[in-house]
This record gives sequence, structure tokens and C-alpha cells, in this order.
Amino acid sequence: MSTTVDLPLLPLGRGKDLSSERGVECPGDLPAASDPDLVARARAAKEALGSRVFVLGHHYQRDEVIQFADVTGDSFKLARDAAARPEAEFIVFCGVHFMAESADILTAPTQKVVLPDLAAGCSMADMARLAQVEDAWDAMVAAGVASSVVPVTYMNSSADIKAFCGRNGGAVCTSSNAESALDWAFSQHGDDTKVFFLPDQHLGRNTAVLKMGLTLDDCVVWDPRQPDGGLTAEQLRDAKMILWRGHCSVHGRFSPDTIDDLRATIPGINILVHPECVHEVVLKADLVGSTEFIIKTVEAAPAGTAWAIGTELNLVKRLAAAHPDKRIVFLDKTVCYCSTMNRIDLPHLVWALESLVDGVVVNQIEVDPDTEHWAKVALQRMLELPGKSHRD
Ligand code: 13P
Ligand code: SF4
Repeated sequence: MSTTVDLPLLPLGRGKDLSSERGVECPGDLPAASDPDLVARARAAKEALGSRVFVLGHHYQRDEVIQFADVTGDSFKLARDAAARPEAEFIVFCGVHFMAESADILTAPTQKVVLPDLAAGCSMADMARLAQVEDAWDAMVAAGVASSVVPVTYMNSSADIKAFCGRNGGAVCTSSNAESALDWAFSQHGDDTKVFFLPDQHLGRNTAVLKMGLTLDDCVVWDPRQPDGGLTAEQLRDAKMILWRGHCSVHGRFSPDTIDDLRATIPGINILVHPECVHEVVLKADLVGSTEFIIKTVEAAPAGTAWAIGTELNLVKRLAAAHPDKRIVFLDKTVCYCSTMNRIDLPHLVWALESLVDGVVVNQIEVDPDTEHWAKVALQRMLELPGKSHRD
């Protein structure tokens, strides 16, 4: 068993006080959401900071926030964009905690990364804690397979899970390069190679089966809540993909039945989904890819075409507004925002920017040096992957 202290689940993102709930209050004065001057205040603060600040916005952010982003993108693009701005003193990350951590790892030590609301975590990232992952690794050592296992973690994981992968010969991937990452991973130990994929079982399964030619029987699921992950040593030895039992609660809502209904009611409709959706949904979809891929696909589509999109609602609404010549519908019957992405709102952005203008760095995300070192090894392996299947 691992000797690492098993921290409690941190549904609201990590902070310095590990026994408290994070992000429930802001130090300082948060402007009222009803303040009619919020847009003008954000604009003025950004102008005052000039090139000292660089604002990154993930595609799932609200419109009120995205209008202030210097660059928008999926997690892969934003990681590259953060690394390419050494002149910016402050990186304000409008996204979630794991993205801000990755930006801190990839930027210079003098650059400060700010997450406007510390409650902007990711429930999927919180499903894999380091002590649990080390227990799983110990089981692979005991089964005699660890030397041929390559750990690959989805970007949507905490920095210490990325560092675990870096330390153990593995890499990070995002939804835009999972295929390249698995290609690379499976070439590490010849035919015996196995991949330990964290924390999103769906991205892992969808990529293994639909891109790498593996079968569903080649995949097993390690459930951290079961003794020995619910797997025997023999199952670990027989598997090619050991998937962590994690998922995205937003993308988990989309169902194959809705696809059938939409195909019946809107003839010719194209189904475009994110690879975090369950395998049965991805199997029925026409196209699958990262948020950046989804945007580019819709942009390139001819006028008059119809699209049902299975990803977060802020992005789908923005696409529908930007393409009135195409019919764009959400692939779920009910509203489905990512509640933690939505924590970043205009009052928090104004508060973060105005604090920087006043010389106060609020909500800085800092990864400790050892974690940073090994997480960077895993992130660098990702950034060096051949670009053939980067879909951005
Ligand atoms: P992308 O890498 O496609 O932007 O996805 C990030 C994410 O959190 C999806 O849920
Ligand atoms: Fe995490 Fe899902 Fe939200 Fe993406 S959409 S940040 S995976 S909870």
C-alpha cells in the first residue's frame, strides 16, 4: 500500500488549507454581479495592465468572460499558448484548476498564473487522487506487469497525477492528441506494452477501440473504490488498456437514444461529439473530437447543414449564435453547463484584474517544485508528440 497521505476528495479545487472547502469566499471585495459597470471595469483594468497580462479562455467559459480573452482554445492549445507568452507577467486563466496548474508548470518561474475563482475545479480530475493511483501501481507491480505499463493521464488531472506519469515513464494527453499519445505509449515496450489511462475511462476506451484497433475486451477498468480496483492479477496481465474509473458528469449526460430521436426528427443531421462521451454515444456519432475540432468542423460546414453537438452548453450556444445559416442544436434534452467552468464569471474576472492593477496577486496557482519538475516531463512528452492526429 502507498505511504502517501490520502487527501480528502477536493471537489472545489486544491488550495493551501486542505481541510477547508475551497473557493467559497473571495478575499477582498468581489464586485456585485448587478454592477452595471462590470464590462467597463474589466476593460479599464485590462488596458491598465497592457501587455503585462495575458488572458486565456477555455471554450466552455461564459460569453461575459470570453469577450476578455486574448486567446481562446481547447486545453491543448491553451497549454501551448501559455508557454508561448514569456513576456506576460500575469497569466489570468479563465478555465479550471488543472488548466491553470498546467499553465504554471509550462510558464517561466517569474510569471504568475491566476485562477479568478478557486472553486473552478473539475469533478473528473478529482476522481483520481495520487494515493489511489499509487495503490493501483503497487497492484501492477505485484502482478508483475508494471515494467511494461506506460501511464498516460488526460490533461484533466491534478499536477501530482501528471508528475506520477512523468516519474514513471509516461505522458499527458488531451482530447486533441490522445491518438498520438497512445501511439507513442504503445511503442515504448514492444508488444508487451500496456497503457494505464487516467482519469477518463471514456476518452481512454474511445481512443483505444476506435483509433488504435483494440477491442473492448482488451480494456479493463480499475475502480479505486473496490479492493484491488475490482481486478485480479490475471485480468491486469491480460489487459492492454487499464482504464481508471473516472468520467465527466457533463458529457456523461448524452445518450444514444437522443441521437436516434434526433436522426428521426431532423433528417440528415450530423452528430458531433466530444470524446469524453460514453462509448455508445461516440459509436453512433458522425464525428468526434476536442472542442477546437468541434468549432473548426462547424465553421467549415456548408450553410443549410444541421448539427447536434454533444459538448458543454456555453460552447454550443456560442456556435449556434455565430452560425445562423446552419441549424445547431444541443445533444441533450435538458440544460447542461459545466458548473465549475461557470464559476468564472465577470465579477471574479474584474476582481482578479483590478487586484493586479493594485499590485495584489490574488488566487495564484503555484505547483510545488518537485511536482512541477515531473509534471513538466510528462507535459513535454505530450508537446513533443508528432502532430499527425492533433485535430486543431
Ligand atoms: P478540450 O481539451 O477538448 O478543450 O476539453 C477540455 C474539457 O474539459 C472537456 O470537458
Ligand atoms: Fe471537467 Fe467535465 Fe467540466 Fe471538462 S466539462 S472541466 S471534464 S467537469
